[in-house]
Amino acid sequence: MSASYRAIDWNRQKRLYDLTLTSGIVLALATFIGVSLMVSPGSTAETLILRATSVTALVLLHVVLAIGPLARLDARFLPLLYNRRHLGVTLFLLALAHGVFAVVQFHALGDENPLVSVFTAYRRDYRVVADGQVVLAHLPFEPFGAAALAIFFVMAATSHDFWLRNLGASFWKALHLGVYAAYGLVLAHVAFGALQSERSLVYPALLFTGFAVLAGLHLAAARKAACLDAAGNEAGPDGFVDAGPVDRIAEGRAVVISVAGARLALWRHQGRVFATSDVCRHQGGPVGEGRIIDGCITCPWHGWNYRPEDGCSPPPFKEVIETHDVRVAEGRAWVRPAANPLGTRCAGAGTGGPP
Ligand code: HEM
Ligand code: FES
Repeated sequence: MSASYRAIDWNRQKRLYDLTLTSGIVLALATFIGVSLMVSPGSTAETLILRATSVTALVLLHVVLAIGPLARLDARFLPLLYNRRHLGVTLFLLALAHGVFAVVQFHALGDENPLVSVFTAYRRDYRVVADGQVVLAHLPFEPFGAAALAIFFVMAATSHDFWLRNLGASFWKALHLGVYAAYGLVLAHVAFGALQSERSLVYPALLFTGFAVLAGLHLAAARKAACLDAAGNEAGPDGFVDAGPVDRIAEGRAVVISVAGARLALWRHQGRVFATSDVCRHQGGPVGEGRIIDGCITCPWHGWNYRPEDGCSPPPFKEVIETHDVRVAEGRAWVRPAANPLGTRCAGAGTGGPP
């Protein structure tokens, strides 16, 4: 892990991030409540809180889902990725407030246990298909919200690096991909709930626009990655693969190439070219989109560090990414597709230009 960036301790960037997040949430809640009071002055406090927290959570969910593809498409969005998990925890707290208010308001006055009532309090004679017609108006929509809330809880509870280390990166990542399932459940919750009594087309249109924007961003990011993977690199007689002109690599930066199905990052550092894996040991972030700071490759997502010459994190950290042999001939870099054993020290290759 990083020596110069601190992923766990508080730092200025983290504080600024949280301050902006808190201000944004307060502003969103206040705006929603203000506009609702103007449109329907008779709204009760419970209804306002229930709706303001849920709509703010829904907007935040769109932001959380948009940040990943946006950062892949344009590096200027990378700072938003840093501490994205704080957005997730905030989203869970907003959704929890909404769920608690909904349970208290709609399920606390009956004989049934309110938490059981969420799953049972619907018309017992309800059938999805009645008299040959599909009837969605009375479909129990709250269980969809409850399932989404459970997923948000698991993600928020395991968001700390402690869980990442203990569960393993692949399992942790798979767990956190549950956010897409939660998004689907929330769409069902709103579509079968609030939208059933809604006459205005504005709300379904907004929900669809949000979905279309997210789908478009994900498709564009996937296309960009596919183009990179499809750009085949020719292998020379010695098995080294042509990685393009050295000139296109800026000092302290990398270009990412795809070799035999793996992404490699070619770095230029003090007159030499080095090659490492593009996959960060932390959460699989794209290290090749980062920079070399104080002699260490710095992952753009949360700042984990690796030395370009051996792929090792500086002490006391122990993470290592693969390195690959590189050579430079006639202004072009060539890289060996097979990775060196972990921790192997490579001299890199001189660029032939000034350091
Ligand atoms: C135990 C969990 C949950 C319960 C019991 C619950 C219950 C409800 C209820 C009773 C409504 C009111 C529907 C209406 O006004 O017609 C509602 C609306 C809504 N819920 Fe949930 N919900 C839960 C979880 C969630 C979660 C996790 C989200 C995620 C963002 C969410 C988002 C929404 C939204 C956006 C609305 C529409 C708000 C509006 O009417 O303006 N809910 N929910
Ligand atoms: S530092 Fe978190 S993915 Fe690289």
